[in-house]
Amino acid sequence: MEAKTSVFLALAICSLFINLAQCSQLIYQSKWKLLKRSIGVSAMHMALLPNDKVIIFDRTDAGPSNLSLPQENCARVHHQSAHEATDCYAHSVEFNPANRDFRPLTISTDTWCSSGALSQDGVLIQSGGYDDGYKVVRYFKPCLDCDWIEEQNGLIVPRWYASNQVLPDGRIIVVGGRFQFNYEFIPKTSTNDKKLYQLPFLEETMHLPKVPNNLYPFLHLSTDGNLFIFANDRAILFDYVHNKVVTKFPVMPGGVSRNYPSTGSSALLPISLVGNNSSPSVEVLVCGGTFPDSNVKANAGIYMPASKSCGRLIITEKNPNWEMEEMPINRVMGDMILLPTGDVLIINGAASGTAGWAVAREPVLNPVLYKPNHEKTGRFELMNPTTIPRLYHSTAHLLSDGRVLVGGSNPNVNYNFTTLYPTELSLEAFYPPYLSTSSKSRPSINSIKPGVDLTYLQKFYLGFKTNYVPDKIYVTMVAPSFTTHSFAMNQRVLVLDFSQVGKNGNLSGSKGYINLEGFAPARPELAPPGYYLLFVVCDGIPSRGMWVRIKKL
Ligand SMILES: *[C@@H]1O[C@H](CO)[C@@H](O)[C@H](O)[C@H]1NC(C)=O
Ligand SMILES: *[C@@H]1O[C@H](CO)[C@@H](O)[C@H](O)[C@H]1NC(C)=O
Ligand SMILES: *[C@@H]1O[C@H](CO)[C@@H](O)[C@H](O)[C@H]1NC(C)=O
Ligand SMILES: *[C@@H]1O[C@H](CO)[C@@H](O)[C@H](O)[C@H]1NC(C)=O
Repeated sequence: MEAKTSVFLALAICSLFINLAQCSQLIYQSKWKLLKRSIGVSAMHMALLPNDKVIIFDRTDAGPSNLSLPQENCARVHHQSAHEATDCYAHSVEFNPANRDFRPLTISTDTWCSSGALSQDGVLIQSGGYDDGYKVVRYFKPCLDCDWIEEQNGLIVPRWYASNQVLPDGRIIVVGGRFQFNYEFIPKTSTNDKKLYQLPFLEETMHLPKVPNNLYPFLHLSTDGNLFIFANDRAILFDYVHNKVVTKFPVMPGGVSRNYPSTGSSALLPISLVGNNSSPSVEVLVCGGTFPDSNVKANAGIYMPASKSCGRLIITEKNPNWEMEEMPINRVMGDMILLPTGDVLIINGAASGTAGWAVAREPVLNPVLYKPNHEKTGRFELMNPTTIPRLYHSTAHLLSDGRVLVGGSNPNVNYNFTTLYPTELSLEAFYPPYLSTSSKSRPSINSIKPGVDLTYLQKFYLGFKTNYVPDKIYVTMVAPSFTTHSFAMNQRVLVLDFSQVGKNGNLSGSKGYINLEGFAPARPELAPPGYYLLFVVCDGIPSRGMWVRIKKL
């Protein structure tokens, strides 16, 4: 679509929600690119690996996909409906954003509404699902011809719609799932990992209009090592080691439900370690969702407007209160993706209805950028729209080059291309406004010394090039997420402490080369061990990300 036409459309759509004069000031430069018309599989789940490939998968019980498996890889499946059968369709792919190639991968147990995280060794560990996949833990190791490895009974209980988070000791906590008011740890290496731990908070926050409505709880690791857990409009700080609620936070005002099927989203705002701050404050953002009865109404054909509201809570304060604000557009099923700049992109979803089969309407085609450090009146910027609705079972993921990969959307039980919101097999890239400047004016990282393996508090040297003298420099570190159902699990941005070596960034003597003395985060509670993307951000423009790995000594 022509840029002019798309801006016009954006204005038209925007003005449905707010007045036109306000809208024309609100639309910022940004663009979309269709990367693939079809990868053959609808992208319900996405994870970025340290080799820059993206692992994408759907559920396996949706019938034929649009991608075949090589004959020798046909999977033996044991679905309730089919007892035992052979499935020669792929339900997972490995996508290479650099050249847009993809290859089919083999999964034989059902991954429907499952969860995951990247281990400290860079292996994607993925857990749960449905039916024969309820208790399966699956591993995907980044290498040339690797495929999924599936461990039956890797979980103690069935987990459908659970959430995962990497912990300071490198383990992964798996919380909840449908009618599972408990948590456990994977992979199971000690006797404590083989135990199931109760979590009554999940039962307390579950209301039953029709389905449990607090699924995929939002998890964030706080810098004191405790886990922030959010369900619907309640939140706790939780000590998962001693199975104890540390803090019960105030109820989020407004009566909006934020978890499946009311599906809002949540992200941890950037954690600043600048000034050698080892006890930074930690703030959580929760946006969108619907009123609790919206799903029941949508199933009866009444599509209620989604919520516009967002709340921020400083979880490291003694008695924090929610600070509420409003997005320019109502949104349910929006993905919140942290950008290398520390801004939050809110993308995908619908303006009415809820998550679930074919119960959302009014796809929201315009992403919104949220700038957490701006004055309250100027935090939201409306971005240019896509043309492709991304509703239930769509995803988004930050790429190392600073673009955001967007895919999926299948509110249908099977692959259906002849219905109101057809199964989406395409992948797009969203280019945030920082990519609208010429690539020459992007800073570029030349070197990280002594190397990309870092230990806690390690001093490192970062050499980068800019074609001008930047005013404001930040060094950020982004944890790659596992994204599904509008929640990017394990997502985290750290703003690193550094000092500039030499005056005016002039150490090397040659113009445009800058050397920084940076410091890795001090403790694993700030940044659990594992892979991160390191960016230098000059006056709001990030470099491409470089993979670094933080290890315990
Ligand atoms: C997927 O396959 C179906 C059935 O063969 C076909 O009608 C449809 O056009 C295909 N869709 C895409 C996006 O490739
Ligand atoms: C930063 O603080 C830590 C203690 O938290 C200390 O060990 C370290 O030396 C400090 N680093 C600098 C550069 O001041
Ligand atoms: C696709 O959806 C339409 C509308 O709900 C339905 O009538 C049709 O049977 C579906 N097709 C398939 C192949 O499931
Ligand atoms: C940068 O270094 C060059 C050569 O060492 C020197 O001539 C120049 O004055 C320096 N510029 C600044 C801004 O410090």
